[in-house]
Amino acid sequence: MSTFTIDTSTSRATPSPVPGKRTTVPAIRSRKLPAENGFATAEPIVMLTAYTMRMAQLLDPHCDMLLVGDSLGQVIYGLPSTIPVTMEMMCAHGAAVVRGSWHALVAVDMPFGSYEGSPEQAFASASRIMKETGCAAVKLEGGEAMAPTIAFLSGRGIPVVGHVGLTPQAVNVLGGYGARGREEQEARKILADARAVADAGAFCIVVEGVLEDIATDVARNVAPPVIGIGASAECDGQVLVTDDMLGVFERTPRFVKRYDDLAARISAAAAMYASEVRDRSFPTSGQTYRPKSGS
Ligand code: KIV
Repeated sequence: MSTFTIDTSTSRATPSPVPGKRTTVPAIRSRKLPAENGFATAEPIVMLTAYTMRMAQLLDPHCDMLLVGDSLGQVIYGLPSTIPVTMEMMCAHGAAVVRGSWHALVAVDMPFGSYEGSPEQAFASASRIMKETGCAAVKLEGGEAMAPTIAFLSGRGIPVVGHVGLTPQAVNVLGGYGARGREEQEARKILADARAVADAGAFCIVVEGVLEDIATDVARNVAPPVIGIGASAECDGQVLVTDDMLGVFERTPRFVKRYDDLAARISAAAAMYASEVRDRSFPTSGQTYRPKSGS
């Protein structure tokens, strides 16, 4: 599947810069090297979520990786959690993001129920996602229990991003979205999960919603790059849900830094448009068609 097939015959499709060489899995993997006290990454990996072609175009030049997260269930579809997200949703949005990007490595989340049953089920789902979207990798949640599945996929040509700590698809087991690792036993389990996922062949690992020291510990003790969210500045990279960091929602989790206030700006623009439609000051002659002169 082409990674750059935007239909420029429609007026809204913005022609993008000349396609470059896409960031590869080995390139991400090799950003982390053995260091004096474990492992370290010189330049942190930049990851953001993207769900649409246009957002992918805007984010791509700034990111090493774009994640088509199953958070799209909540962000795009207004679902109460990521549990109801389907393969069809992930494939449609994954393909759009691949079409809108040319530089970043695109990873697509495997939705709940598409991989936990067996390694074979995971292979069927992951290969479908890769064929239908053109993405380079899939992400799946879980630690030690998912290690055999990660090894199965990695050994069969499917690069896997691991995801440990707070795993939102397990919200019904965890009982909520609070930070993990407050108890000693749970902290040990998070490190064991990350080690198992790393040993199984994940080429990078998202660590979400854990106490800072645990995330730092994980990053120093596993070979693949560790991408933090609600984790630690010592991670090998960071990811945020783009809509959170743009301020699309009034309420965001504590670990989110809001780099803009799009909710207020969109609301103000819509209010101005509504007012101009109502008082007929929009459209003006500059926004209406008239006969071409001389015809
Ligand atoms: O679904 C998602 O967006 C994610 C990130 C928050 C890491 O998994």
